[in-house]
Amino acid sequence: MDRREVLKASLASAAAIGITSKRSMAAAIDSAAGADVQVGGGQENQQPVLASVYDYEAAAKRKMSLPAWEYFSSGSADEITLRRNREALDELQLKPRVLVDVTRVDTSCTVLGNKLPHPILLAPTSSHLLAHPDAETATARGAGEAKTIMVASTLSNRSIEDICRAASGPIWFQLYVDDDKQAVQALIERAEAAGCKALCITADIPMPYARNREEHIRAQSPILPFPNLGTEARPGGGGGRTRRHFNWSDLEWIQSFAKTPVILKGVLNPDDADEAVKRGVAAIVVSNHGGRVLDTEPATIQVLPAVVDRVAGRAPVLFDSGIRRGTDVLKGLGYGASAVLIGRPYLYGLNVAGADGVRDVINILRSELEVAMAMTGRTRLDQIDRSIFWKFRDYSS
Ligand SMILES: Cc1cc2nc3c(=O)[nH]c(=O)nc-3n(C[C@H](O)[C@H](O)[C@H](O)COP(=O)(O)O)c2cc1C
Repeated sequence: MDRREVLKASLASAAAIGITSKRSMAAAIDSAAGADVQVGGGQENQQPVLASVYDYEAAAKRKMSLPAWEYFSSGSADEITLRRNREALDELQLKPRVLVDVTRVDTSCTVLGNKLPHPILLAPTSSHLLAHPDAETATARGAGEAKTIMVASTLSNRSIEDICRAASGPIWFQLYVDDDKQAVQALIERAEAAGCKALCITADIPMPYARNREEHIRAQSPILPFPNLGTEARPGGGGGRTRRHFNWSDLEWIQSFAKTPVILKGVLNPDDADEAVKRGVAAIVVSNHGGRVLDTEPATIQVLPAVVDRVAGRAPVLFDSGIRRGTDVLKGLGYGASAVLIGRPYLYGLNVAGADGVRDVINILRSELEVAMAMTGRTRLDQIDRSIFWKFRDYSS
C-alpha cells in the first residue's frame, strides 16, 4: 500500500466527519505521491488533513469529551515513563542505506501462526465506548479491514462474543487474572468458545495505580458496561475486581487447561522474561502499559534489546508503548521484536472515524514503515536487525 492510497483512505474518513474540504482532499491526493509534500497545509480556509497518527490525536483531542481524553491520553503519576516512551524512540538514530533496489518492500510476517501483511497489531485497551458508540465492535471491523489481529480487553464495553462476531480477522483475548479463580476459568472458556485464537495475560497491574489526571475527572466520567465481567463501573476502575493474588503458579494453572496459546504481556525485566519462557509461554509482550503503570520505569524500547537477548529466540517477543510512527515500528523490529502493538493511536482513529479511522491509522503506520524500510535498505522484515541503528545504546545494566 503506497502513501497515495493511504492518504486517499484517510482523507475519505476525514471528509466523512467534515475535517477537510473537497478542494484540499483533491489537492492532497494529487500531490501525495511526492516525497516531501506538505499535505493539507498552507492554503486559505483549509482544515488539517489526517496524514499521521499525530493528526488523528489532535482531531480526537478536539472531538472527545474531557473525561474521555484524560482517560485515553494520560499516564501514571508524573507521566515520566509516558514521556520517556516517546523520548527514547525519538532518540534512536536510524542509519540510512542508498542504492538498494526497493521497488518491492514486503512487510508481511507470521505471528503465532497468523500470516499478516504487516507487523502492527492492536493492543488491548479498555472502554472503547468512550471513543465511539459502536465501541469494540467498530475496532474489530477496522482491524479486519487492515488485516491485523485485535487483542480484545477483558474490560471491553462489548462482550467478547459480540467482538468476535464483528471481526473478520483473528481476535486474541486479553485477560486480567482476578482473585476469583472460578470466574477467571469461566471467562477463559467463554473467550475460547467465542473463537479467540490466543490468551494475552496482562501481568503489570496487580493493583490500582495513581493516574492523577484521570482521577481528577473520574466523577464526571460515565458509568460503562463491562459485559465480560457482568459489571458496570467508571473507566479506569478495573471493572470493580481485585487481582493482587496473581502469581507464577496461577499462570501454570491457566496453562494446564487453556486450549489456546498463552502470551504474557507487561514484562520489562529480563529475569521475568526468562521465567516466563521457561514456563512455556507462547510469546512475551514487552510493555509498560503505555506509561500507565509504575512511573519512572524505563521506556520499553530501552529494555527491549536486553529482553530479546535473554529470551534468545526461545519465544517471539512483541513490543508496545509509544509507537506513533513507522520509524518506531522499524526500531522495535530492529531490536528483535517479531511484531508491535499500538494502543492510543487506534483509539484516536476510532474516535475520529470509527472502524475507518482504526483502519486508516494502521495503514498510515504500515505505509510509513515501508518508507523507513526502503530508506534503510531493507525489503523484507527478516533483513531488519540492529544494524539499522547509527549506534547502539546499552540499557541492559
Ligand atoms: C486507554 C487505555 C486503556 C488500556 N487498557 C488496557 C487493558 O484493558 N488491558 C491491557 O492489557 N492493557 C491496556 N492498556 C495498555 C495497552 O495494551 C498498551 O500496552 C499501550 O496502550 C501501548 O502504548 P501506546 O498507547 O503508547 O501505544 C491500555 C492503554 C490505554 C491507553
